[in-house]
Amino acid sequence: MKPDQAESLRRKMRQRQLIKPELYEKKAKTLAVISGKGGVGKSNLTLNMAVALQEKGKKALIIDLDIGMGNIDVLIGAASSRTIIDVMENRYALAHSLSSGPKGLRYISGGTGLEAIYQADREKWSAFMNGLSAVLSDFDYVLFDMGAGLSKEQLPFILSAEDILAVTTPEPTAIMDAYSAIKHLFLADERLTVNIAVNRARAQKHALDTYTRLSHAIHTFLGAEVRFAGSIPDDPLVSQAVIDQVPFLIKSPQAKASRSVRLLTDVLFQTEENKPREEKPAFIERLSSFLMRRTLQ
Ligand SMILES: Nc1ncnc2c1ncn2[C@@H]1O[C@H](COP(=O)(O)OP(=O)(O)OP(=O)(O)O)[C@@H](O)[C@H]1O
Ligand SMILES: [Mg+2]
Repeated sequence: MKPDQAESLRRKMRQRQLIKPELYEKKAKTLAVISGKGGVGKSNLTLNMAVALQEKGKKALIIDLDIGMGNIDVLIGAASSRTIIDVMENRYALAHSLSSGPKGLRYISGGTGLEAIYQADREKWSAFMNGLSAVLSDFDYVLFDMGAGLSKEQLPFILSAEDILAVTTPEPTAIMDAYSAIKHLFLADERLTVNIAVNRARAQKHALDTYTRLSHAIHTFLGAEVRFAGSIPDDPLVSQAVIDQVPFLIKSPQAKASRSVRLLTDVLFQTEENKPREEKPAFIERLSSFLMRRTLQ
């Protein structure tokens, strides 16, 4: 979307009085963590990136949108009761539905039935978007932990995020599935920024080979470019941390996996900070535009 298109969209939504004007100006950085294949490490990476951000004094919110399968709370040994759907149904305010995790990170799960977001009436929808918008303005970073593959409920959130992090392992099946998911995203919007993380690499060489295979296929067949965000080694400590329900960054701060996640988080968000931001409308505007098309026309 070009800046003038973004401005016209903003005007339209203001005219329809759907989102309070003051909320347009405040922007949290949004990142959707996706994969083609399941079980490649999205949730662990999302959680530990949020811990890394908190350690740097930033405020991070995880929105767990792995519908019906969300497990951020299992990874930290907590139980969250409220979901985005509760908020949508006006049962609770979003600001009061966030749970607290390690190092002060906050999180909320998507719950089941995210499609309700597309069936909401104007009043519910507007209340939800204002609530989301207000909450986003309280955070520096919002990380969306997505389910594997691309469901139609999740797609607007992924396409609205300022950055996408696609996670793969070196396994050819994971690379193929990552390629398919990324292909769908670029077909929907060729201007997306897609970063690649290679998880469970046995050596740095395997990580780079994996990235090269994937980025080469994307360049050759889609004419698109992606960026290497970093890699995380295969490490039994990760699995042990999952069993202990403590993020590995906290359990083993000096482990190679932990250092890799800190580095990856720096690379991802430093690049993000250097990008000219005015060209891209904020997450909330993009999401509003997707949902408006589906719900209000
Ligand atoms: N770097 C790693 N080293 C060793 N094991 C790992 C690593 N990353 C992930 N794992 C293992 O893979 C499992 C799955 O990770 P995780 O739940 O983060 O994947 P996911 O992509 O979120 O899965 P899903 O698609 O089901 O949401 C972990 O429980 C852990 O045992
Ligand atoms: Mg997961």
